[in-house]
Amino acid sequence: MNNTWIILGATSSMARAFARAVSDRGDGVLLCGRDMADLKASAVDCAARGAPIAEALAFDARDPKSFQPIIDRALREDGQLHVSVFVGSMPPQDAVDADPSLIAGVVTDSYTGPATFLQRIAPELEARGGATVVGVGSVAGDRGRIGNYVYGSAKAGFHTYLSGLRNRLTRAGGHVVTVKPGFSDTAMTWGLEGMFLVASPEKIAEDILRAVDKKKDVLYTPFFWRYIMGIIKAIPERVFKKLSV
Ligand SMILES: NC(=O)c1ccc[n+]([C@@H]2O[C@H](COP(=O)([O-])OP(=O)(O)OC[C@H]3O[C@@H](n4cnc5c(N)ncnc54)[C@H](OP(=O)(O)O)[C@@H]3O)[C@@H](O)[C@H]2O)c1
Repeated sequence: MNNTWIILGATSSMARAFARAVSDRGDGVLLCGRDMADLKASAVDCAARGAPIAEALAFDARDPKSFQPIIDRALREDGQLHVSVFVGSMPPQDAVDADPSLIAGVVTDSYTGPATFLQRIAPELEARGGATVVGVGSVAGDRGRIGNYVYGSAKAGFHTYLSGLRNRLTRAGGHVVTVKPGFSDTAMTWGLEGMFLVASPEKIAEDILRAVDKKKDVLYTPFFWRYIMGIIKAIPERVFKKLSV
Protein backbone atom coordinates (compact mmCIF):
# COMPACT_ATOMS: atom_id res chain seq x y z
CA MET A 1 0.00 0.00 0.00
CA ASN A 2 1.17 3.57 -0.74
CA ASN A 3 2.11 5.69 2.23
CA THR A 4 1.94 9.47 2.08
CA TRP A 5 3.24 11.72 4.85
CA ILE A 6 1.92 15.21 5.41
CA ILE A 7 4.84 16.97 7.13
CA LEU A 8 3.93 20.23 8.88
CA GLY A 9 6.89 22.49 9.67
CA ALA A 10 8.92 20.75 6.97
CA THR A 11 11.69 23.40 6.98
CA SER A 12 12.81 22.29 10.45
CA SER A 13 16.04 20.29 10.32
CA MET A 14 14.41 17.46 12.27
CA ALA A 15 11.54 17.41 9.75
CA ARG A 16 13.96 17.50 6.83
CA ALA A 17 15.83 14.47 8.20
CA PHE A 18 12.51 12.68 8.79
CA ALA A 19 11.31 13.48 5.23
CA ARG A 20 14.54 12.08 3.81
CA ALA A 21 14.21 8.90 5.87
CA VAL A 22 10.65 8.15 4.76
CA SER A 23 11.52 9.03 1.15
CA ASP A 24 14.34 6.49 1.30
CA ARG A 25 11.65 3.92 2.11
CA GLY A 26 9.57 4.91 -0.91
CA ASP A 27 6.88 6.89 0.95
CA GLY A 28 5.41 10.06 -0.55
CA VAL A 29 5.83 13.43 1.18
CA LEU A 30 3.78 16.61 1.21
CA LEU A 31 6.17 19.18 2.63
CA CYS A 32 4.19 21.96 4.31
CA GLY A 33 5.46 25.26 5.65
CA ARG A 34 6.05 28.95 5.05
CA ASP A 35 9.31 29.08 3.10
CA MET A 36 8.34 27.77 -0.35
CA ALA A 37 11.86 28.02 -1.83
CA ASP A 38 13.26 25.87 0.97
CA LEU A 39 10.37 23.38 0.73
CA LYS A 40 10.76 23.05 -3.04
CA ALA A 41 14.49 22.32 -2.67
CA SER A 42 13.65 19.62 -0.08
CA ALA A 43 11.00 18.18 -2.41
CA VAL A 44 13.61 17.74 -5.17
CA ASP A 45 15.87 15.96 -2.67
CA CYS A 46 13.05 13.67 -1.48
CA ALA A 47 12.04 12.79 -5.05
CA ALA A 48 15.67 11.92 -5.87
CA ARG A 49 15.69 9.58 -2.87
CA GLY A 50 12.66 7.68 -4.07
CA ALA A 51 9.54 9.48 -2.84
CA PRO A 52 6.81 8.82 -5.44
CA ILE A 53 5.26 12.18 -4.64
CA ALA A 54 7.22 15.07 -3.18
CA GLU A 55 5.48 18.43 -3.18
CA ALA A 56 5.81 21.76 -1.39
CA LEU A 57 2.57 23.18 0.05
CA ALA A 58 1.90 26.44 1.88
CA PHE A 59 1.09 26.06 5.58
CA ASP A 60 0.93 28.73 8.26
CA ALA A 61 -0.17 27.62 11.72
CA ARG A 62 -1.54 31.14 12.28
CA ASP A 63 -3.68 31.05 9.13
CA PRO A 64 -6.32 28.29 9.29
CA LYS A 65 -7.28 29.05 5.67
CA SER A 66 -4.03 27.35 4.65
CA PHE A 67 -5.14 24.02 6.17
CA GLN A 68 -7.91 22.76 3.87
CA PRO A 69 -5.94 22.93 0.58
CA ILE A 70 -3.35 20.61 2.15
CA ILE A 71 -6.02 18.18 3.30
CA ASP A 72 -7.71 18.27 -0.13
CA ARG A 73 -4.38 17.56 -1.85
CA ALA A 74 -3.59 14.69 0.51
CA LEU A 75 -6.99 13.09 -0.04
CA ARG A 76 -6.29 12.80 -3.75
CA GLU A 77 -3.71 10.12 -2.88
CA ASP A 78 -4.85 6.52 -2.52
CA GLY A 79 -3.44 4.38 0.25
CA GLN A 80 -2.44 5.35 3.74
CA LEU A 81 -2.17 8.91 4.98
CA HIS A 82 0.07 9.89 7.88
CA VAL A 83 0.73 13.27 9.50
CA SER A 84 3.81 14.52 11.30
CA VAL A 85 3.96 17.84 13.13
CA PHE A 86 7.29 19.58 13.65
CA VAL A 87 5.87 23.10 14.00
CA GLY A 88 6.77 25.18 17.03
CA SER A 89 8.20 28.54 18.06
CA MET A 90 10.13 29.57 21.14
CA PRO A 91 10.87 33.27 21.56
CA PRO A 92 13.16 33.97 24.53
CA GLN A 93 11.26 34.04 27.82
CA ASP A 94 12.47 37.60 28.53
CA ALA A 95 10.98 38.75 25.21
CA VAL A 96 7.66 37.23 26.28
CA ASP A 97 8.00 38.84 29.71
CA ALA A 98 8.46 42.21 28.02
CA ASP A 99 5.58 41.64 25.58
CA PRO A 100 2.98 39.15 26.83
CA SER A 101 1.06 39.47 23.55
CA LEU A 102 3.71 37.08 22.12
CA ILE A 103 2.08 34.25 24.07
CA ALA A 104 -0.77 33.90 21.58
CA GLY A 105 1.65 33.23 18.71
CA VAL A 106 3.68 30.66 20.67
CA VAL A 107 0.54 28.77 21.62
CA THR A 108 -0.82 28.90 18.06
CA ASP A 109 2.44 27.67 16.50
CA SER A 110 3.18 24.97 19.07
CA TYR A 111 -0.29 23.73 19.94
CA THR A 112 -3.59 25.16 18.69
CA GLY A 113 -2.65 25.57 15.00
CA PRO A 114 -1.38 21.98 14.59
CA ALA A 115 -4.23 20.66 16.78
CA THR A 116 -6.81 22.42 14.61
CA PHE A 117 -5.25 20.89 11.50
CA LEU A 118 -5.23 17.42 13.07
CA GLN A 119 -8.82 17.81 14.27
CA ARG A 120 -9.92 18.66 10.73
CA ILE A 121 -8.17 15.71 9.14
CA ALA A 122 -8.98 13.21 11.92
CA PRO A 123 -12.25 11.95 10.35
CA GLU A 124 -10.34 11.12 7.14
CA LEU A 125 -7.61 9.35 9.11
CA GLU A 126 -10.28 7.34 10.94
CA ALA A 127 -12.01 6.46 7.67
CA ARG A 128 -8.82 5.09 6.12
CA GLY A 129 -7.66 3.27 9.28
CA GLY A 130 -3.99 2.54 9.98
CA ALA A 131 -2.89 6.19 10.02
CA THR A 132 0.09 7.31 12.06
CA VAL A 133 0.32 10.78 13.60
CA VAL A 134 3.68 11.98 14.88
CA GLY A 135 3.47 15.03 17.13
CA VAL A 136 6.71 16.68 18.20
CA GLY A 137 6.35 18.18 21.66
CA SER A 138 9.25 18.78 24.03
CA VAL A 139 10.70 17.81 27.37
CA ALA A 140 9.95 21.47 28.17
CA GLY A 141 6.28 20.45 28.32
CA ASP A 142 6.90 18.10 31.25
CA ARG A 143 7.40 20.83 33.84
CA GLY A 144 7.16 24.63 33.83
CA ARG A 145 10.63 26.14 34.20
CA ILE A 146 11.59 29.76 34.72
CA GLY A 147 13.53 29.87 31.45
CA ASN A 148 10.77 28.85 29.01
CA TYR A 149 7.45 28.24 30.73
CA VAL A 150 5.28 29.83 28.04
CA TYR A 151 6.72 27.57 25.33
CA GLY A 152 6.63 24.65 27.81
CA SER A 153 2.97 25.21 28.61
CA ALA A 154 2.07 25.24 24.90
CA LYS A 155 3.91 21.92 24.46
CA ALA A 156 2.17 20.49 27.55
CA GLY A 157 -1.17 21.36 25.95
CA PHE A 158 -0.09 19.67 22.73
CA HIS A 159 0.99 16.54 24.65
CA THR A 160 -2.44 16.30 26.28
CA TYR A 161 -4.15 16.86 22.93
CA LEU A 162 -2.06 14.06 21.36
CA SER A 163 -2.94 11.71 24.22
CA GLY A 164 -6.65 12.21 23.52
CA LEU A 165 -6.15 11.89 19.77
CA ARG A 166 -4.31 8.61 20.44
CA ASN A 167 -7.39 7.32 22.26
CA ARG A 168 -9.53 8.32 19.30
CA LEU A 169 -7.39 7.03 16.42
CA THR A 170 -6.49 3.78 18.17
CA ARG A 171 -10.16 2.82 17.93
CA ALA A 172 -9.90 3.19 14.15
CA GLY A 173 -6.67 1.17 13.81
CA GLY A 174 -4.45 4.25 13.86
CA HIS A 175 -1.59 5.31 16.08
CA VAL A 176 -0.20 8.51 17.61
CA VAL A 177 3.44 8.96 18.66
CA THR A 178 4.17 11.83 21.05
CA VAL A 179 7.81 12.87 20.64
CA LYS A 180 9.63 14.66 23.44
CA PRO A 181 13.09 15.72 22.25
CA GLY A 182 15.71 17.06 24.59
CA PHE A 183 18.17 19.65 23.26
CA SER A 184 18.91 19.49 19.54
CA ASP A 185 21.20 21.60 17.42
CA THR A 186 18.69 23.40 15.13
CA ALA A 187 17.57 26.90 14.13
CA MET A 188 15.38 27.07 17.26
CA THR A 189 18.33 26.70 19.63
CA TRP A 190 20.95 28.59 17.62
CA GLY A 191 23.01 30.75 19.98
CA LEU A 192 21.23 29.56 23.14
CA GLU A 193 23.44 29.19 26.18
CA GLY A 194 23.36 26.38 28.74
CA MET A 195 22.49 23.52 26.38
CA PHE A 196 23.88 20.09 27.22
CA LEU A 197 23.63 16.55 25.84
CA VAL A 198 22.78 18.07 22.46
CA ALA A 199 21.53 15.59 19.83
CA SER A 200 21.64 15.99 16.07
CA PRO A 201 18.34 16.42 14.18
CA GLU A 202 19.25 13.26 12.20
CA LYS A 203 19.50 11.21 15.41
CA ILE A 204 16.08 12.50 16.51
CA ALA A 205 14.51 11.69 13.12
CA GLU A 206 15.99 8.19 13.26
CA ASP A 207 14.49 7.65 16.74
CA ILE A 208 11.12 8.94 15.54
CA LEU A 209 11.00 6.52 12.62
CA ARG A 210 11.89 3.62 14.91
CA ALA A 211 9.12 4.69 17.31
CA VAL A 212 6.65 4.80 14.40
CA ASP A 213 7.59 1.26 13.37
CA LYS A 214 7.35 -0.02 16.96
CA LYS A 215 4.10 1.90 17.59
CA LYS A 216 5.52 3.58 20.67
CA ASP A 217 3.13 5.96 22.41
CA VAL A 218 5.61 8.41 23.93
CA LEU A 219 9.19 8.78 22.77
CA TYR A 220 11.87 10.65 24.70
CA THR A 221 14.79 11.30 22.35
CA PRO A 222 17.60 10.66 23.01
CA PHE A 223 16.27 7.98 25.41
CA PHE A 224 18.07 9.27 28.52
CA TRP A 225 15.75 12.30 28.66
CA ARG A 226 13.06 9.96 30.03
CA TYR A 227 15.25 9.49 33.13
CA ILE A 228 16.34 13.13 33.37
CA MET A 229 12.72 14.27 33.23
CA GLY A 230 11.71 11.53 35.68
CA ILE A 231 14.10 13.13 38.19
CA ILE A 232 13.03 16.69 37.36
CA LYS A 233 9.33 15.79 37.71
CA ALA A 234 10.00 14.11 41.06
CA ILE A 235 11.48 17.25 42.67
CA PRO A 236 8.94 18.62 45.16
CA GLU A 237 7.41 21.94 44.09
CA ARG A 238 8.65 23.72 47.25
CA VAL A 239 12.23 22.90 46.15
CA PHE A 240 11.68 23.20 42.40
CA LYS A 241 10.36 26.77 42.63
CA LYS A 242 13.79 27.91 43.86
CA LEU A 243 15.78 26.13 41.14
CA SER A 244 16.86 27.38 37.73
CA VAL A 245 17.18 24.00 36.01
N1 LIG B 1 15.76 22.16 18.94
C1 LIG B 1 15.46 21.69 20.15
O1 LIG B 1 16.32 21.63 21.06
C2 LIG B 1 14.08 21.17 20.42
C3 LIG B 1 13.85 20.52 21.64
C4 LIG B 1 12.59 20.02 21.91
C5 LIG B 1 11.59 20.15 20.97
N2 LIG B 1 11.82 20.80 19.79
C6 LIG B 1 10.70 20.91 18.84
O2 LIG B 1 11.09 20.30 17.62
C7 LIG B 1 10.30 20.84 16.55
C8 LIG B 1 11.23 21.21 15.40
O3 LIG B 1 12.01 22.32 15.82
P1 LIG B 1 13.50 22.61 15.39
O4 LIG B 1 14.35 22.43 16.56
O5 LIG B 1 13.81 21.84 14.14
O6 LIG B 1 13.48 24.18 15.12
P2 LIG B 1 12.99 25.05 13.87
O7 LIG B 1 13.91 24.87 12.74
O8 LIG B 1 12.81 26.42 14.43
O9 LIG B 1 11.61 24.39 13.48
C9 LIG B 1 10.38 24.93 13.80
C10 LIG B 1 9.49 24.72 12.61
O10 LIG B 1 8.22 25.32 12.92
C11 LIG B 1 7.89 26.15 11.81
N3 LIG B 1 6.96 27.20 12.21
C12 LIG B 1 7.06 28.06 13.24
N4 LIG B 1 5.99 28.88 13.25
C13 LIG B 1 5.20 28.51 12.21
C14 LIG B 1 3.97 28.94 11.71
N5 LIG B 1 3.28 29.97 12.25
N6 LIG B 1 3.44 28.32 10.61
C15 LIG B 1 4.11 27.31 10.02
N7 LIG B 1 5.30 26.85 10.44
C16 LIG B 1 5.84 27.43 11.53
C17 LIG B 1 9.19 26.69 11.29
O11 LIG B 1 9.00 27.21 10.02
P3 LIG B 1 9.90 28.42 9.41
O12 LIG B 1 11.12 27.78 8.84
O13 LIG B 1 9.00 29.02 8.38
O14 LIG B 1 10.19 29.34 10.56
C18 LIG B 1 10.02 25.41 11.35
O15 LIG B 1 9.74 24.59 10.25
C19 LIG B 1 9.56 22.04 17.14
O16 LIG B 1 8.23 21.65 17.42
C20 LIG B 1 10.31 22.31 18.44
O17 LIG B 1 9.47 22.93 19.39
C21 LIG B 1 13.04 21.32 19.50
